[in-house]
Amino acid sequence: ITINVTTRDGDRQQIDGQEGSALMEMLRDAGLGVDGTCGGMCSCGSCHVYIASETTLPKPSEDEADMLEGMGSIVEVRPSSRLSCQIILKPELDGLEVEIAPQF
Ligand code: FES
Repeated sequence: ITINVTTRDGDRQQIDGQEGSALMEMLRDAGLGVDGTCGGMCSCGSCHVYIASETTLPKPSEDEADMLEGMGSIVEVRPSSRLSCQIILKPELDGLEVEIAPQF
């Protein structure tokens, strides 16, 4: 599952994701500045990304939506904002375009 990533420096990179793992883990393991401090518990905001493609993702859970809303006073939260720890890679996400949001 190929993910196209725009880093905080504006570099474009392609990373290979494994089905069933969280997008955050892929971004973190690729050394792209996503810390995943809370380990995917939806509580740190360090895995914030903007989804740049039209791909339809499952809607954010209430926890994720609350977290994003709370982050809005500190970083730019867009309609396309997601916490990448909540996005589990599936074959239909092949080619997903994500932009890593500013450090939170
Ligand atoms: Fe902490 Fe996603 S890794 S909110």
